[in-house]
Amino acid sequence: MPIQKPPLHHLHLHLHLHLRSHLLLLSLFFFYLTTADDAAVMSKLLSALSPTPLGWDNKTPFCKWTNVNCDSTNKFVTSINLDSQSISGTLPPELNQLSSLKSLSLQKNSFSGAIPSFANTTLQKIFLDFNSFSSVPPDFLLGCTNLQVISISENGQLSPWQIPLYLTESSNLQSFLASNSSIVGRIPDFFGSFPNLQDLRLSYNNITGGLPRSLGVSEVRNIWLNNQIQGLSGRIDVLSSMTQIYQVWLFANAFTGPIPDLSNCTNLFDLQLRDNQFTGVVPASVMQLPNLMNVSLANNKLQGPLPVFRAGVSVTLGRTNSFCGTSPGPCDPQVTALLAVAGALGYPTVFAQSWVGNNSCSGDWTFITCDPQGKNVTVVNFGKQGFSGTISPAFANLTSLRNLYLNDNNLSGTIPEILTSLPQLQNFDVSNNNLAGPRPVFPPGVKFSYAGNLLLEKNQTAGGNGAGGGMPGNGSTFDVPSGSKTGSGGSKGSSVSAGMIAGVVIAVLVFVGVVLFVSNKCYMKRRHRRFGKVEGSEKGSEMVKSNVHGGLNGYGGVPSELQSQSSGDHIEIHMFEGGNVSIPTRLAGTFGYLAPEYAATGRVTKKVDVYAFGVVLTEIITGRKPLDETMSDEWSHLVTWFCSVLINKENIRKAIDSTLDPDEATYESICKVAELAGHCTAREPHQRPDMGHAVNVLGPLVEQWKPGKSKEDESCGIDLHTSLP
Ligand SMILES: *[C@@H]1O[C@H](CO)[C@@H](O)[C@H](O)[C@H]1NC(C)=O
Ligand SMILES: *[C@@H]1O[C@H](CO)[C@@H](O)[C@H](O)[C@H]1NC(C)=O
Ligand SMILES: *[C@@H]1O[C@H](CO)[C@@H](O)[C@H](O)[C@H]1NC(C)=O
Ligand SMILES: *[C@@H]1O[C@H](CO)[C@@H](O)[C@H](O)[C@H]1NC(C)=O
Ligand SMILES: *[C@@H]1O[C@H](CO)[C@@H](O)[C@H](O)[C@H]1NC(C)=O
Ligand SMILES: *[C@@H]1O[C@H](CO)[C@@H](O)[C@H](O)[C@H]1NC(C)=O
Ligand SMILES: *[C@@H]1O[C@H](CO)[C@@H](O)[C@H](O)[C@H]1NC(C)=O
Ligand SMILES: *[C@@H]1O[C@H](CO)[C@@H](O)[C@H](O)[C@H]1NC(C)=O
Ligand SMILES: *[C@@H]1O[C@H](CO)[C@@H](O)[C@H](O)[C@H]1NC(C)=O
Ligand SMILES: *[C@@H]1O[C@H](CO)[C@@H](O)[C@H](O)[C@H]1NC(C)=O
Ligand SMILES: *[C@@H]1O[C@H](CO)[C@@H](O)[C@H](O)[C@H]1NC(C)=O
Repeated sequence: MPIQKPPLHHLHLHLHLHLRSHLLLLSLFFFYLTTADDAAVMSKLLSALSPTPLGWDNKTPFCKWTNVNCDSTNKFVTSINLDSQSISGTLPPELNQLSSLKSLSLQKNSFSGAIPSFANTTLQKIFLDFNSFSSVPPDFLLGCTNLQVISISENGQLSPWQIPLYLTESSNLQSFLASNSSIVGRIPDFFGSFPNLQDLRLSYNNITGGLPRSLGVSEVRNIWLNNQIQGLSGRIDVLSSMTQIYQVWLFANAFTGPIPDLSNCTNLFDLQLRDNQFTGVVPASVMQLPNLMNVSLANNKLQGPLPVFRAGVSVTLGRTNSFCGTSPGPCDPQVTALLAVAGALGYPTVFAQSWVGNNSCSGDWTFITCDPQGKNVTVVNFGKQGFSGTISPAFANLTSLRNLYLNDNNLSGTIPEILTSLPQLQNFDVSNNNLAGPRPVFPPGVKFSYAGNLLLEKNQTAGGNGAGGGMPGNGSTFDVPSGSKTGSGGSKGSSVSAGMIAGVVIAVLVFVGVVLFVSNKCYMKRRHRRFGKVEGSEKGSEMVKSNVHGGLNGYGGVPSELQSQSSGDHIEIHMFEGGNVSIPTRLAGTFGYLAPEYAATGRVTKKVDVYAFGVVLTEIITGRKPLDETMSDEWSHLVTWFCSVLINKENIRKAIDSTLDPDEATYESICKVAELAGHCTAREPHQRPDMGHAVNVLGPLVEQWKPGKSKEDESCGIDLHTSLP
């Protein structure tokens, strides 16, 4: 078939005649139209530019214009290069109709106005840098799957825009250069989509947030993120896995935390970290990097010895870091130990600001107290500081340490056994953290407090009288909450036996029941017995009361019967015996569950299931049955439903038994019980606490809920001025 340009009406006629069979002709038609469009677009571009680029003119075919290249048919533009020609003007939106354009180089001119969309084009390289464009369209490079280079740097007059997520479609991207181009927002965590990305230059923008984790899987060699207006923040640990990295410019931001171990970044040549908030000791792995030539660390809060780099490396350290001295050499041993301690906590900024110099007893070091001679550290108090991280074994090098308070933080990991060797130690408090693993045994005379660490194991061999042993969350044993055998006391209730725990737990259960019953009764009265007559309620309360009074008179006075049986297989629970306790409506459900679980035979085995205990608590709080067929399948299981409730504390108020109608203080207590119930009913047995923990949580509540404190007990007509645990 001859290829020529027929008049349009002629073609039309042909089409009508042969539309079905002459597909080739049809394609020829579009061929014709698009060819015409490239010329039209180029003509439009030409008329938008001023001055007219050298060698461009409407009388010659556009494929002959200077620095315009076409494909082999000479009909389609493949590249346009107007680099550095002092051209001004705005780009026509039709540029995206150049169907074969692969490379567009307009850098270093004075283009202004909106950048047009190049969505769904064949573009591979686009250079718009050093111009004065005013805006980036939302679909700027949408669907440009062939993109290799985006260069839009130095367009400081752009209105703010964000790095578009659709770039993940451009999986061939090699360079993304957008410094000083008004980018705001975060760097998307999308680097897994760019296996070939080597250059990421985003300096002088207003990017916030942290370094995305996916940078660690990228091949980026060159990363410029310096001088963000508000500052990038967070830690830079991800650098340690960027093994191809060559040049790192992170200066003038708000990064925190330590400089990571960069021993695998053997190509690193240029490391610019000045003007941030970095803390901690400069790792030896950084000082020894074989190819490092240029490093700036000035104006941070770096600690420890003054770093020493290879000869020939250009180093800027400045004068405002927190190094222990102005000349190289090791720090004082106590300083070294305390820095290791800070390191295990991730070098919090609070230390770096105050732990300056080579003398930890200078008086300026926060959380540290020394002996009167000002020589040796005697007290370290990190209580309630919100610290995460681990307990450093380096505490053991503070040999004069007497009191070590690490309580009420978020510490994880294990308690280093070596701390038991501290010769002067008197108080060691790690309570209320997330510590796990074995519980070291301290010498007599050390007060060791560790309550509130759900995963802390007791010393397996120190269990003693058959009451201990077992992992927490094994869910089959009571755990003695403190090592009475070893002479180290827990913060609460030292020297208690398993029997006592059982007693206390039961007392607590009974007490919760009583409180709920009282609330319930008051509620009923207030509501004029809206729920009708409460049969046998007085009797029920008396039964409970008499059992509480006569059977479980306080922490220290668990009946000898319970105690003596604690080494046996079961503990009698009198109040459920025979099921002849009269319990008011609602409460009946509460204890009704206890009956089939534990009391059907009138006794409860020692191996009370923590899970079942949690279910009971949940039932008490919510007034719901463990299995509620009236609810949708998803929520019919009490535990599943309650677990979802606990995600947000405010939900608890809606979920609790509507007859409770608690005041604020009671509500707080209920929340604590709810939280405990949640822990006890954790899906994985190992996540469940031991009974010792339950006692620790519930004990103080019992104290708080003493009926003597109740304002309304008189008006409710029940005398509950009974002394209770
Ligand atoms: C590009 O393609 C996407 C879908 O592939 C479409 O939604 C969008 O409208 C197209 N944009 C342009 C400018 O052609
Ligand atoms: C950023 O761009 C603006 C305007 O284009 C310019 O004035 C400024 O000097 C540039 N800043 C840097 C750091 O290059
Ligand atoms: C930088 O970004 C932050 C938050 O994204 C914003 O509050 C601030 O105004 C921005 N600063 C400038 C100069 O644009
Ligand atoms: C360095 O690489 C090795 C081997 O891949 C790895 O085992 C080690 O953890 C890496 N070191 C760091 C600091 O990431
Ligand atoms: C080190 O970096 C600075 C800028 O950060 C630069 O001026 C200097 O030339 C660099 N030195 C080397 C040896 O690369
Ligand atoms: C720090 O003090 C110790 C003595 O306590 C001394 O040996 C060491 O050289 C000092 N280090 C620096 C860097 O001044
Ligand atoms: C400080 O500790 C050192 C080493 O543990 C010890 O020799 C010295 O007596 C202690 N000084 C005081 C004043 O306690
Ligand atoms: C205690 O200090 C010594 C010498 O300074 C050091 O070798 C040791 O590793 C330190 N111990 C701990 C647990 O950090
Ligand atoms: C506590 O530490 C864990 C990691 O050990 C962390 O996931 C969690 O966010 C921390 N919680 C708080 C409140 O800092
Ligand atoms: C457990 O206790 C025994 C003796 O009571 C002691 O020898 C052992 O070191 C302890 N184990 C741990 C892990 O603390
Ligand atoms: C639970 O405790 C029993 C002994 O009481 C022990 O045999 C079992 O291995 C423990 N299970 C776990 C998961 O620790």
